[in-house]
Amino acid sequence: MILKPSFNIFTSEDGREALQVIKNKNIDVVTLDLKMPVMPGEEVLKQIKDYDPTIEVVIITGYGTLKSAVEAIKYNVFDYILKPFNVSDILSTVKRCLERREMSFRVKAFLTEIEKESKSPLKMYKHISHFLNKLDEFYHPAKSEGYLEFVKVLTSTLETNDTYTKGHSERVNYYATLIAEGLGLSQVDTRDLQTSAYLHDIGKVGISVNNGSLDENELTEMRKHPLKGVKMVSPLKLPHEVIGGIKYHHERMDGEGYPEGLKGDQIPLFARIIAIADCYDAITVGRPNKAAMSKNEALLELKRNADSQFDKELLDIFAKALRKK
Ligand SMILES: [Fe+2]
Repeated sequence: MILKPSFNIFTSEDGREALQVIKNKNIDVVTLDLKMPVMPGEEVLKQIKDYDPTIEVVIITGYGTLKSAVEAIKYNVFDYILKPFNVSDILSTVKRCLERREMSFRVKAFLTEIEKESKSPLKMYKHISHFLNKLDEFYHPAKSEGYLEFVKVLTSTLETNDTYTKGHSERVNYYATLIAEGLGLSQVDTRDLQTSAYLHDIGKVGISVNNGSLDENELTEMRKHPLKGVKMVSPLKLPHEVIGGIKYHHERMDGEGYPEGLKGDQIPLFARIIAIADCYDAITVGRPNKAAMSKNEALLELKRNADSQFDKELLDIFAKALRKK
């Protein structure tokens, strides 16, 4: 009701009715109370996203959050608003939501267009680099926050067609944020880390490999992705901490990583954080030739590689944060 003067609003008493409205009208944004009669809010959310994944959903809840944040990531919930909320909060959230939806359409239309004409990954890489170069004409973010929204849309769109990478950057962002919270990073640093986490694998766009085990040539090619990623995002003029996360997320504490073989503290903080988040996600999601590990198995596996591969202190912070989830 609060939104009525600015938007065209439809209200529903319960989930089933809401789903009918969504199917009959052109809905951009749904504000969804989790506690509803007839159908649980989580089920309504699932059905909305099954019907049309581009509809943005803002959860309004009086009792905490969804059962797990991973569930929210799975359904790409835009934001939560906790009750009691104030009017300006809900207005600004819905406004941001609509901006993201519009940007989503433009990015998707662009990527669909270049996918049609880019038969090779190399062409795709060139097109996206060109696109990022022209970004100022296409999108004018308030630099501090805007790019984060943009990179979310870009990376999730790029991942859509691959079962194993789908949602990867979103989950790496989530795990990296847990470490940032544990470290007590500032809001600005956390946002930069998140931008870096979303973009860490963007350089893979330019690389063609089969899913599964890589031969030597493919491995050499794949190892170029951090540097390719840095090159791709260079027009965005991102802070050097963000670039460091992309460039060095495959370095190892013992100096055996790539691209430069940096050791220990030489590896920038964001890269050490992303390395943990990245690896945890890869082993808990699994690969065609590797079964997914449980949370505990994955933490044990990471701990086995503490000091040789990962920063032990950051790993402890991550394990502590994950156990609370
Ligand atoms: Fe990577």
